[in-house]
Amino acid sequence: MSIPFIDLQAQRRRIAGKIDSAIQTVLDHGAFVMGPEVGELERQLAAFSGAKHAVACASGTDAIALALMAWEVKPNDAVFCPSFTFCATGEVIPWFGASPVFVDIEADTYNLNPDDLERAIEQTIREGKLTPKVIIGVCLFGQSANYPRLREIADKYGLKLLADSAQGFGATINGRHPSDFADVVTTSFFPAKPLGCYGDGGAVLTNDAALADILDSLHVHGKAITADMEGRTFDHDPKYLNMRIGMNSRLDTIQAAVLLEKLAIFADEIEARNKIAARYNELLAPHVSSTPSVKDGYVSIWAQYTIEHDNRDGLRGHLAALDIPTAVYYPAPMHVSPAYKEFAPAPGTLKVTEEKAGGVMSLPMHPYLDEETQDRIVDAIRGFNG
Ligand SMILES: Cc1ncc(COP(=O)(O)O)c(C=O)c1O
Repeated sequence: MSIPFIDLQAQRRRIAGKIDSAIQTVLDHGAFVMGPEVGELERQLAAFSGAKHAVACASGTDAIALALMAWEVKPNDAVFCPSFTFCATGEVIPWFGASPVFVDIEADTYNLNPDDLERAIEQTIREGKLTPKVIIGVCLFGQSANYPRLREIADKYGLKLLADSAQGFGATINGRHPSDFADVVTTSFFPAKPLGCYGDGGAVLTNDAALADILDSLHVHGKAITADMEGRTFDHDPKYLNMRIGMNSRLDTIQAAVLLEKLAIFADEIEARNKIAARYNELLAPHVSSTPSVKDGYVSIWAQYTIEHDNRDGLRGHLAALDIPTAVYYPAPMHVSPAYKEFAPAPGTLKVTEEKAGGVMSLPMHPYLDEETQDRIVDAIRGFNG
């Protein structure tokens, strides 16, 4: 029998009744856009992730774009980000005419390497063509980047820090959340994400009240917000007075209703993911080149469980023949993708990124992966003689 890579139906078996009735409530009240569930979700997301404010939006990609828009990123600005990430991290940067400057990763966590970040910033300053503006760290595979160090670097050079936490919403560093370090945290509710909805969705989180208001405005076409209304009188609904150029990026009420039910069990699911990851680590360590490394004091939410193997492709073929799915995140780092050719750094600059793209593979991982299924996966890996 084939094993699902991510078993969303197992979660449905646990809370389908609650989700279905939450959806029915929205169908009954009919406020499909900006309904009461959206505001409630924003409050609960902020509380869960230790941020003061949350703005729900249409996707994790839009969430990053909204932050860059709020910071008025523009042509000739440099935005530093990893190349070893899902393309959305860097994709939004050229939307504003700015340039992604790709930075290498740490060999053990696959997250942005702070030393290489400083090298890239210094080099950009020396070359003098671009103005350093923003750093984007990514919580790859569920583990936070080294945000304490990234914060120091951002402060040293006067840059904004964004935590792309699409894969890491709920991850912590010594009990602290990425929003304690980053100016903005973004996340995605794509269904396969640890906290996913039944379609597309995302959110932007920040401790900065004024920035949260701007984000609120930008995600509804630059509508007037309270600060814009001071000293003005209106003879029409102020939302039709556009104060800035924004976009339409709202989270549907039905998706907010689904997420509220999923958020209620999310802490429990994170715990389950950690137990499953610990068991994988113990059983697999002797049979693969590397099991995932989580820094001391960090808690990963295990969006992916990613190993390395000297014969990665052989092992994947062996597992596929046994109906065990695997995935490679990411076979082509952003800087080698044709669309980003013009932003590729000099050959050899992103050595770790290029090496890891050839060696990593992810195994089935979700909170409902039972021991019997996990044993089948582990036994299959043990039995590989490649
Ligand atoms: C690291 C990262 N950033 C951004 C995104 C974009 O999120 P979305 O698919 O919701 O636009 C994703 C998700 O796929 C992601 O993994």
